[in-house]
Amino acid sequence: MTRISVTPLQSSLGAEVSGIDLRQPVDDEVLAALREAWARHLVLRFRGQALSDPELLAFSRLFGELDPPGPNPYGKPFLSEFPEINVISNVKVDGVPIGNLGDGEAVWHCDMTYVERPPRAALLHALEIPPGGGDTFWSDMYLAYETLPDHTKALISGRRAIHDATYNSAGMMRKGMKEVTDPREAPGAHHPLVIAHPDTRRPALFLGRRRNSYVLGMDLAESNALLDTLWEHATRPEFTFRQEWQLHDLILWDNRCTLHRRDAFDPNASRIMHRTQIKGPAIEAFDPASAGMALES
Ligand code: OGA
Ligand code: MN
Repeated sequence: MTRISVTPLQSSLGAEVSGIDLRQPVDDEVLAALREAWARHLVLRFRGQALSDPELLAFSRLFGELDPPGPNPYGKPFLSEFPEINVISNVKVDGVPIGNLGDGEAVWHCDMTYVERPPRAALLHALEIPPGGGDTFWSDMYLAYETLPDHTKALISGRRAIHDATYNSAGMMRKGMKEVTDPREAPGAHHPLVIAHPDTRRPALFLGRRRNSYVLGMDLAESNALLDTLWEHATRPEFTFRQEWQLHDLILWDNRCTLHRRDAFDPNASRIMHRTQIKGPAIEAFDPASAGMALES
C-alpha cells in the first residue's frame, strides 16, 4: 500500500509529497490524502516524476475534467497530438516557438481569470530546465486577505474588478485581441475582489493580473491606487513560496487562492514544461455576513 508523506516547504503554502510514483494508479485513499494536502498547502510538489504526456494527462484527470489551454499568441495547440497539454517553453525549432511565455519574466498572475470559470488547478511538469533562473513563485491569497487592514477589507467588500484578457503574463498579446488604452474598457470577466473558495469557503483575495485591471464603480485614479496597494500587499515575500526547479518536478497548484510569477532565465538555455489545467466552477463573492452566521450557528 502506498504511504505518502507531506512535508511543508513554507509556513503558509507549498508542500512536498513523497512516497508516490505518479505513473502508477492512485487508489482512493491516496487520492483523498492528496486532495487534503492540496487544500491545506495550496501548492504541492512531487519530485523525480518522469511522466510521459499520457501519464501527465491521467494524473491530472484525478483532479477533475481537463480545461484546454487558452488561446496562445500563435493560434494553434503546441502539441497537436495532445491539445489538452500546453507547452511553456522558450525553445524554437526552425525559428518557430514550441511553447508559450518565452524566456523573460512572467509577472504575477492567476491563470485565465479573464473567463467566467477560470481553471481550478494547474499542473506543471519540468522536462528541461535551465542551469539557473526560471524559478517560479506562488503567493497565498488566503493569507493576503486575512492580513489586510480592516479598513481595506471594508473598502473592497462587495467590489468587483475587470480581469483583462488582452495580454498573457509575459506581456504578449493573445490572438484576436487589440491594444487596450483605457482599463475601464478592457475585455474580460468581472470578478469579486474577495471570493469564497468553492471548496473551503474561506475568503481569498482574487486579483488576476495587474495590467489593465480596474475596480468597477471607482474613478480610474482611485482604482489604480487601491490596486497598487492590494498588489504590493499580496506579493509580499512572506506570503510566497519559491520553486527552484529540478528535472521531472511536477507542481500542482490551486489557481483560486494563489498567484504565481516566474523569473527570467538565460535565453540561450532551454526550458520545457508540459502543463495541464482543470476546469473550475463559477467564481463566487465572499459574503462576510453569511460567513459570520455560519460560524455562529
Ligand atoms: C503557467 C505559468 C510559469 C512557469 O504555466 O501558467 O505561469 O514557471 N508558468 O513556467
Ligand atoms: Mn500562469
